[in-house]
Amino acid sequence: MERRIISTDVSEEEKKTDASLRPQRLDDYIGQSRIKEMMKIYIEAARNRGEPLDHVLFYGPPGLGKTTIAGIIANEMGVNMKITSGPAIEKPGEMAAILNNLQEGDVLFIDEIHRLNRQVEEVLYPAMEDFAIDIMLGKEASARSIRLELPKFTLVGATTRAGLLTAPLRDRFGMVQKMEFYTPEELKEIVVRSAGVLGVSIDEEGAMRIARRSRGTPRLANRLLKRVRDFAEVKYDGVITREAADFALDILDVDKLGLDNNDRTILSTIIEKFSGGPVGIDTLAAALSEDAGTLEDVYEPYLLMNGLIQRTPRGRIATENAYRHLGIPLPRPEAKDEIYGQQSLEL
Ligand SMILES: Nc1ncnc2c1ncn2[C@@H]1O[C@H](COP(=O)(O)OP(=O)(O)OP(=O)(O)O)[C@@H](O)[C@H]1O
Ligand SMILES: [Mg+2]
Repeated sequence: MERRIISTDVSEEEKKTDASLRPQRLDDYIGQSRIKEMMKIYIEAARNRGEPLDHVLFYGPPGLGKTTIAGIIANEMGVNMKITSGPAIEKPGEMAAILNNLQEGDVLFIDEIHRLNRQVEEVLYPAMEDFAIDIMLGKEASARSIRLELPKFTLVGATTRAGLLTAPLRDRFGMVQKMEFYTPEELKEIVVRSAGVLGVSIDEEGAMRIARRSRGTPRLANRLLKRVRDFAEVKYDGVITREAADFALDILDVDKLGLDNNDRTILSTIIEKFSGGPVGIDTLAAALSEDAGTLEDVYEPYLLMNGLIQRTPRGRIATENAYRHLGIPLPRPEAKDEIYGQQSLEL
């Protein structure tokens, strides 16, 4: 029996290797040069003043390195990081307890921060602004609130859905940074670095092949590297060459643009069910049984960047590139040209 490439325990494996593949220092963090330059300056300034860094919000599609950079900030500041997430905190009291347990200067990382409920979020307002929380004592007529001082800390928030953040929360971040997709060259660097960490042999071309199909996303680059490594071990003497990478990636169903089945389904749905569009985001989401916001924030950015879809006031349309990429004949005008062209030839 041949070894199964996509086994069910892969996600557990990923959890373990993820930590070792995460760069720990700003200098090892590849790409996002604009963010890196700014963070370098802010971190140095804060350190020189002996103060914690201002609160930072990172937003952008999944897998671009938000959690990673939060860890780097804590490392560079020489402080501890506490990690939690929006959906994990249900009650205001839980948030108060987390804040109260921080040490001076600590980084509190809240992932999926757009999913904090309103009452929990309100605890954060004075905490972020004044490093204090207000606690209500007693009930009704005798109720009074007391202010509890907190250690000075840095809140690092991450979200894939910046649009869902409330204005009061967003305004309390000193820095709001948008994460960009990585270029193939940057991803290649990440692949080579990760291969080094994992002890995998890879050549330049092999790394570039993986990079090009990683849809601008380091997490995907690392995942593909690990899958391709399996093929290389079994069929290519353990070295990831161009041939090994191409062979494996074709089997893994990741296409030349790095699109996976979900991306292709979105495109083919616009083309086949809505005649190429325009189709409103909600209608499209319903047809795909997907949440409209997820579609907008998670899938669309990469399709837009590659010129496969366009956003218009009347909805999304599939571009000619999308038809070509999926190998679907172009509709009306071009089709007509072809027919008339042929007719005139026959005449
Ligand atoms: N700039 C980078 N340089 C090198 N490796 C990176 C970089 N950014 C991310 N990675 C790698 O990609 C993986 C995913 O990154 P990370 O978990 O930080 O993404 P994320 O933006 O937090 O994703 P999510 O939104 O799903 O939480 C990390 O384990 C890390 O190995
Ligand atoms: Mg994360």
